[in-house]
Amino acid sequence: MAESSTQQSQSKKVMLSAVQPSNRLTLGNYLGALKIWAQLQKDYDCIFFAVDMHAITSRQDPEELREQTYRALATYIAAGIDPDQCILFAQSHVPAHAQLAWVLTCHSYMGELSRMTQFKDKSAKQGTNIPSGLFTYPVLMAADILLYQTELVPVGEDQKQHIELTRDLAIRMNNLFPKAPLFKVPEPYIPPVGARIMSLQNPLAKMSKSDPDVNSAIYLSDSDDTILKKLKRAVTDSGSEIVWDDEKPGIKNLLTIQAALTGKKVPDLVAGYVGKQYGHLKIETAEICIQAIKPIRDEVERLTKDKTYLTQILKKGAQSANARAQKTLDQVYKNVGFILP
Ligand code: TRP
Repeated sequence: MAESSTQQSQSKKVMLSAVQPSNRLTLGNYLGALKIWAQLQKDYDCIFFAVDMHAITSRQDPEELREQTYRALATYIAAGIDPDQCILFAQSHVPAHAQLAWVLTCHSYMGELSRMTQFKDKSAKQGTNIPSGLFTYPVLMAADILLYQTELVPVGEDQKQHIELTRDLAIRMNNLFPKAPLFKVPEPYIPPVGARIMSLQNPLAKMSKSDPDVNSAIYLSDSDDTILKKLKRAVTDSGSEIVWDDEKPGIKNLLTIQAALTGKKVPDLVAGYVGKQYGHLKIETAEICIQAIKPIRDEVERLTKDKTYLTQILKKGAQSANARAQKTLDQVYKNVGFILP
């Protein structure tokens, strides 16, 4: 593994992404992230991890967090991400993330962090005691990315601003030390439109694993019955025709889910629904979801029970990640004037 990933690193661009193990992953995470990562893994030198350190920016139950972190890793593997081809690990297993984050924090500005829309949204929900970690969260994310000389970061639209900040920090640090630029300046990779799955209860908002309304999201751990129930309850739009129309975000979302899971084109799907009711669309979307999710769910269940296997993957991943991250961190420490131990 270590050897093959070194070889890969010489010829392929580094692609890196992560999800927060703050809850179970959803169909939105699968279609908008994991499935795309799995498709891209052969063409890139891939690094995927579970950001347990980002998760504690809001209160977590410790046992839950541990279990969700294993589960996130198991879900990556069940979704087709190959641990022999990619580096898979838990963020807290690579100390360089926190170490680089501190140096970057000292080079980031209060003003730019205050402009992050995710911070504004999340802090507005927190009341008076807003954890500072919520404010510096994007700097930790920048460290995640810059440590590995990443070129491409597949993320959803909502994370684009954090990638912009990462680029600004990389350029700022490189300019400070022009003799030996420290970081590659990464690009976001925003998946194709069809990969954006919306809430089943409010199709104008993204499907989110942290939505308090459990009916708004399909979790990859949901039973067949639950999937069917949630889709039957999905909010649809006025009228009764099944068409692709901005006025019908609920219908568009169901068609998007079908298209993303079957690979069929939206116009072909729409043509098949002429003269049919919303109810048909809901039930058929449920059947398609069940077919896609069942094998992933069963595999996640099997893998999460096999802690020996998961621990072994995490250990191997942390070893490769630490080796790469340390190289960047050493250079940063040297440049800012720390005595290398
Ligand atoms: N902030 C991202 C999210 O909430 C997760 C994340 C943390 C991430 N570090 C990252 C994504 C590095 C891509 C690259 O979705």
